[in-house]
Amino acid sequence: MSDRPVLSDLARFLRQREELGAGSLVFVSLPRDDLARLLREGRARGRAAQGSPAPAGDPPALRSVPTPPTVPSIQGAAAPSELPSEHEPLRELALGCVRCPLSEGRTQVVFHDGSPDARLMVVGEAPGANEDASGVPFVGAAGKYLDLLMASVGLSRRESVYICNVIKCRPPGNRNPKPDEIAACSGWLKRQIEVVNPEVILAVGTFSAQLLTGKDIALGRLRGEIYSYEGTPLVVTYHPAALLRNSRWTRPSWEDFQLLRRVMDPT
Ligand code: URA
Repeated sequence: MSDRPVLSDLARFLRQREELGAGSLVFVSLPRDDLARLLREGRARGRAAQGSPAPAGDPPALRSVPTPPTVPSIQGAAAPSELPSEHEPLRELALGCVRCPLSEGRTQVVFHDGSPDARLMVVGEAPGANEDASGVPFVGAAGKYLDLLMASVGLSRRESVYICNVIKCRPPGNRNPKPDEIAACSGWLKRQIEVVNPEVILAVGTFSAQLLTGKDIALGRLRGEIYSYEGTPLVVTYHPAALLRNSRWTRPSWEDFQLLRRVMDPT
Protein backbone atom coordinates (compact mmCIF):
# COMPACT_ATOMS: atom_id res chain seq x y z
CA MET A 1 0.00 0.00 0.00
CA SER A 2 1.29 3.49 -0.81
CA ASP A 3 1.77 5.83 2.17
CA ARG A 4 0.29 8.76 0.31
CA PRO A 5 -3.45 8.08 0.86
CA VAL A 6 -2.78 7.22 4.51
CA LEU A 7 -0.87 10.46 5.02
CA SER A 8 -3.51 12.56 3.32
CA ASP A 9 -6.23 10.91 5.45
CA LEU A 10 -4.17 11.59 8.52
CA ALA A 11 -3.60 15.22 7.52
CA ARG A 12 -7.34 15.67 6.92
CA PHE A 13 -8.14 14.13 10.29
CA LEU A 14 -5.62 16.34 12.10
CA ARG A 15 -6.99 19.46 10.41
CA GLN A 16 -10.46 18.53 11.57
CA ARG A 17 -9.27 17.97 15.15
CA GLU A 18 -7.53 21.32 15.04
CA GLU A 19 -10.73 23.04 13.88
CA LEU A 20 -12.51 21.47 16.83
CA GLY A 21 -9.88 22.76 19.24
CA ALA A 22 -8.78 19.30 20.38
CA GLY A 23 -5.99 19.65 22.93
CA SER A 24 -4.59 16.18 22.27
CA LEU A 25 -4.08 14.12 19.15
CA VAL A 26 -5.83 10.79 18.94
CA PHE A 27 -5.03 8.60 15.96
CA VAL A 28 -7.99 6.77 14.55
CA SER A 29 -8.33 3.96 12.00
CA LEU A 30 -4.59 3.62 11.57
CA PRO A 31 -2.85 0.57 13.01
CA ARG A 32 -0.34 1.58 15.64
CA ASP A 33 2.61 0.00 13.78
CA ASP A 34 1.74 1.75 10.49
CA LEU A 35 1.47 5.08 12.25
CA ALA A 36 4.77 4.61 14.11
CA ARG A 37 6.44 3.70 10.80
CA LEU A 38 4.96 6.74 9.04
CA LEU A 39 6.08 9.07 11.81
CA ARG A 40 9.59 7.52 11.83
CA GLU A 41 9.85 7.88 8.07
CA GLY A 42 8.40 11.40 8.13
CA ARG A 43 10.94 12.48 10.76
CA ALA A 44 13.77 10.86 8.80
CA ARG A 45 12.67 12.71 5.65
CA GLY A 46 12.52 15.98 7.64
CA ARG A 47 16.00 15.40 9.06
CA ALA A 48 17.40 14.47 5.66
CA ALA A 49 15.97 17.72 4.27
CA GLN A 50 17.64 19.67 7.11
CA GLY A 51 20.87 17.61 7.00
CA SER A 52 20.65 16.55 10.69
CA PRO A 53 21.40 13.01 12.04
CA ALA A 54 18.79 10.58 13.42
CA PRO A 55 18.48 10.42 17.24
CA ALA A 56 18.71 6.97 18.90
CA GLY A 57 15.60 5.22 20.26
CA ASP A 58 12.02 4.47 19.32
CA PRO A 59 9.27 7.03 18.67
CA PRO A 60 7.22 7.98 21.74
CA ALA A 61 4.42 5.61 22.77
CA LEU A 62 1.20 6.10 20.80
CA ARG A 63 -2.30 5.93 22.19
CA SER A 64 -4.83 3.85 20.25
CA VAL A 65 -8.55 4.39 20.75
CA PRO A 66 -11.59 2.85 19.05
CA THR A 67 -12.96 4.71 16.02
CA PRO A 68 -15.61 7.18 17.31
CA PRO A 69 -19.10 6.86 15.81
CA THR A 70 -19.79 9.56 13.25
CA VAL A 71 -22.20 12.43 13.93
CA PRO A 72 -25.67 11.18 12.94
CA SER A 73 -27.80 13.20 10.53
CA ILE A 74 -31.12 14.54 11.76
CA GLN A 75 -32.42 15.09 8.23
CA GLY A 76 -35.52 13.01 7.66
CA ALA A 77 -35.89 12.07 11.36
CA ALA A 78 -39.15 13.13 13.00
CA ALA A 79 -38.98 15.41 16.06
CA PRO A 80 -40.44 13.60 19.09
CA SER A 81 -44.22 14.01 18.80
CA GLU A 82 -44.60 15.08 22.45
CA LEU A 83 -42.58 18.28 21.86
CA PRO A 84 -44.63 21.48 21.64
CA SER A 85 -44.96 23.15 18.27
CA GLU A 86 -44.76 26.71 19.57
CA HIS A 87 -41.57 28.41 20.64
CA GLU A 88 -42.24 29.45 24.23
CA PRO A 89 -43.72 26.13 25.41
CA LEU A 90 -40.86 24.34 23.61
CA ARG A 91 -38.26 26.49 25.36
CA GLU A 92 -39.91 26.03 28.76
CA LEU A 93 -39.95 22.27 28.36
CA ALA A 94 -36.32 22.23 27.22
CA LEU A 95 -35.23 24.20 30.29
CA GLY A 96 -36.07 21.15 32.43
CA CYS A 97 -34.57 18.54 30.09
CA VAL A 98 -32.88 15.54 31.73
CA ARG A 99 -32.52 13.41 28.59
CA CYS A 100 -28.79 12.94 29.02
CA PRO A 101 -26.14 13.16 31.76
CA LEU A 102 -25.09 16.66 30.64
CA SER A 103 -28.12 17.89 32.62
CA GLU A 104 -26.31 16.92 35.84
CA GLY A 105 -23.35 19.25 35.31
CA ARG A 106 -25.05 22.27 33.75
CA THR A 107 -25.91 25.55 35.47
CA GLN A 108 -28.78 26.01 33.04
CA VAL A 109 -30.04 24.96 29.62
CA VAL A 110 -28.90 27.34 26.86
CA PHE A 111 -31.82 27.32 24.44
CA HIS A 112 -31.56 30.33 22.13
CA ASP A 113 -30.96 34.01 21.54
CA GLY A 114 -32.68 36.32 19.04
CA SER A 115 -36.15 36.38 17.62
CA PRO A 116 -38.06 33.22 16.64
CA ASP A 117 -39.28 35.32 13.67
CA ALA A 118 -35.74 35.80 12.36
CA ARG A 119 -34.95 35.08 8.72
CA LEU A 120 -31.64 33.42 9.57
CA MET A 121 -31.02 30.63 12.07
CA VAL A 122 -27.42 30.08 13.22
CA VAL A 123 -26.67 26.68 14.73
CA GLY A 124 -23.47 26.32 16.77
CA GLU A 125 -22.03 23.43 18.69
CA ALA A 126 -22.55 23.61 22.47
CA PRO A 127 -22.47 26.15 25.29
CA GLY A 128 -19.19 26.99 26.97
CA ALA A 129 -18.63 28.39 30.47
CA ASN A 130 -19.94 31.90 29.67
CA GLU A 131 -23.06 30.54 28.01
CA ASP A 132 -23.68 28.07 30.84
CA ALA A 133 -23.48 30.97 33.31
CA SER A 134 -25.63 33.40 31.31
CA GLY A 135 -28.09 31.02 29.62
CA VAL A 136 -27.43 32.78 26.27
CA PRO A 137 -25.58 31.16 23.33
CA PHE A 138 -22.39 32.68 21.91
CA VAL A 139 -21.69 35.35 24.52
CA GLY A 140 -17.95 34.63 24.96
CA ALA A 141 -15.05 35.56 22.69
CA ALA A 142 -16.26 33.23 19.90
CA GLY A 143 -19.71 34.84 20.11
CA LYS A 144 -18.25 38.33 19.76
CA TYR A 145 -16.38 37.19 16.66
CA LEU A 146 -19.57 35.64 15.30
CA ASP A 147 -21.35 38.97 15.86
CA LEU A 148 -18.61 40.73 13.89
CA LEU A 149 -18.85 38.28 11.00
CA MET A 150 -22.61 38.71 10.91
CA ALA A 151 -22.27 42.49 11.06
CA SER A 152 -19.93 42.32 8.04
CA VAL A 153 -22.93 41.24 5.98
CA GLY A 154 -25.45 43.47 7.72
CA LEU A 155 -26.92 40.92 10.13
CA SER A 156 -27.41 41.27 13.88
CA ARG A 157 -28.77 38.94 16.48
CA ARG A 158 -31.03 41.66 17.80
CA GLU A 159 -32.79 42.21 14.49
CA SER A 160 -32.35 39.40 12.06
CA VAL A 161 -30.85 36.25 13.57
CA TYR A 162 -31.95 33.40 15.81
CA ILE A 163 -29.01 31.58 17.44
CA CYS A 164 -28.93 28.17 19.07
CA ASN A 165 -26.69 25.13 19.41
CA VAL A 166 -26.77 21.43 18.56
CA ILE A 167 -26.26 20.70 22.29
CA LYS A 168 -28.17 22.72 24.86
CA CYS A 169 -26.09 21.96 27.96
CA ARG A 170 -22.39 22.57 28.50
CA PRO A 171 -20.19 19.49 28.07
CA PRO A 172 -17.79 19.29 31.03
CA GLY A 173 -14.52 21.10 30.39
CA ASN A 174 -15.85 22.14 26.95
CA ARG A 175 -15.07 18.70 25.55
CA ASN A 176 -16.60 17.66 22.22
CA PRO A 177 -20.20 16.47 22.41
CA LYS A 178 -20.58 12.69 22.31
CA PRO A 179 -22.77 11.04 19.66
CA ASP A 180 -25.29 9.83 22.25
CA GLU A 181 -25.56 13.37 23.68
CA ILE A 182 -26.13 14.72 20.18
CA ALA A 183 -28.76 12.05 19.58
CA ALA A 184 -30.49 12.84 22.91
CA CYS A 185 -30.53 16.58 22.17
CA SER A 186 -31.28 16.59 18.47
CA GLY A 187 -35.07 16.35 18.92
CA TRP A 188 -34.98 19.85 20.48
CA LEU A 189 -33.04 21.26 17.54
CA LYS A 190 -35.24 19.50 15.04
CA ARG A 191 -38.40 20.98 16.56
CA GLN A 192 -36.66 24.35 17.01
CA ILE A 193 -35.97 24.50 13.27
CA GLU A 194 -39.59 23.52 12.50
CA VAL A 195 -40.96 26.21 14.84
CA VAL A 196 -38.63 29.04 13.77
CA ASN A 197 -38.94 27.97 10.15
CA PRO A 198 -36.06 30.21 9.02
CA GLU A 199 -35.50 31.25 5.42
CA VAL A 200 -31.85 30.17 5.68
CA ILE A 201 -29.76 28.14 8.16
CA LEU A 202 -26.07 28.76 8.88
CA ALA A 203 -24.25 25.84 10.55
CA VAL A 204 -21.06 26.90 12.31
CA GLY A 205 -18.46 24.26 13.09
CA THR A 206 -18.06 20.63 12.18
CA PHE A 207 -20.66 19.12 14.51
CA SER A 208 -23.45 21.37 13.38
CA ALA A 209 -22.43 21.18 9.70
CA GLN A 210 -22.23 17.39 9.68
CA LEU A 211 -25.45 16.94 11.63
CA LEU A 212 -27.47 19.25 9.40
CA THR A 213 -26.02 18.20 6.05
CA GLY A 214 -25.91 14.52 7.02
CA LYS A 215 -22.41 14.35 5.53
CA ASP A 216 -19.49 12.95 7.47
CA ILE A 217 -16.96 15.15 5.68
CA ALA A 218 -14.36 17.60 7.04
CA LEU A 219 -15.63 21.15 7.19
CA GLY A 220 -12.96 22.44 4.83
CA ARG A 221 -14.47 20.24 2.13
CA LEU A 222 -18.10 20.82 3.10
CA ARG A 223 -18.04 24.60 3.01
CA GLY A 224 -18.57 26.70 -0.12
CA GLU A 225 -21.80 25.00 -1.21
CA ILE A 226 -25.46 25.55 -0.58
CA TYR A 227 -27.18 22.54 0.99
CA SER A 228 -30.80 21.90 1.78
CA TYR A 229 -32.02 21.08 5.26
CA GLU A 230 -35.41 19.57 4.48
CA GLY A 231 -36.03 22.26 1.87
CA THR A 232 -34.41 25.17 3.76
CA PRO A 233 -31.16 26.48 2.21
CA LEU A 234 -28.21 25.65 4.45
CA VAL A 235 -24.74 27.22 4.38
CA VAL A 236 -21.89 25.87 6.52
CA THR A 237 -18.81 27.63 7.83
CA TYR A 238 -15.98 27.37 10.32
CA HIS A 239 -16.64 27.80 14.01
CA PRO A 240 -15.60 31.31 15.16
CA ALA A 241 -13.55 29.71 17.98
CA ALA A 242 -11.47 28.02 15.26
CA LEU A 243 -10.91 31.40 13.58
CA LEU A 244 -9.68 32.86 16.86
CA ARG A 245 -7.08 30.11 17.02
CA ASN A 246 -6.04 30.20 13.37
CA SER A 247 -6.43 33.15 11.03
CA ARG A 248 -5.93 30.82 8.03
CA TRP A 249 -9.71 30.30 8.00
CA THR A 250 -10.65 33.98 8.16
CA ARG A 251 -10.84 34.51 4.41
CA PRO A 252 -12.85 31.33 3.65
CA SER A 253 -15.20 32.29 6.51
CA TRP A 254 -15.68 35.74 5.07
CA GLU A 255 -16.49 34.11 1.72
CA ASP A 256 -19.00 31.84 3.47
CA PHE A 257 -20.74 34.88 4.94
CA GLN A 258 -20.83 36.48 1.49
CA LEU A 259 -22.42 33.30 0.17
CA LEU A 260 -24.91 33.39 3.03
CA ARG A 261 -25.83 36.96 2.16
CA ARG A 262 -26.35 36.02 -1.50
CA VAL A 263 -28.58 33.11 -0.49
CA MET A 264 -30.62 35.41 1.76
CA ASP A 265 -30.93 38.18 -0.82
CA PRO A 266 -30.31 36.97 -4.37
CA THR A 267 -29.95 39.93 -6.72
N1 URA B 1 -19.58 27.82 20.96
C1 URA B 1 -20.73 27.31 20.48
O1 URA B 1 -20.73 26.51 19.57
N2 URA B 1 -21.86 27.75 21.03
C2 URA B 1 -21.91 28.63 22.01
O2 URA B 1 -22.99 28.96 22.45
C3 URA B 1 -20.69 29.14 22.49
C4 URA B 1 -19.54 28.73 21.95
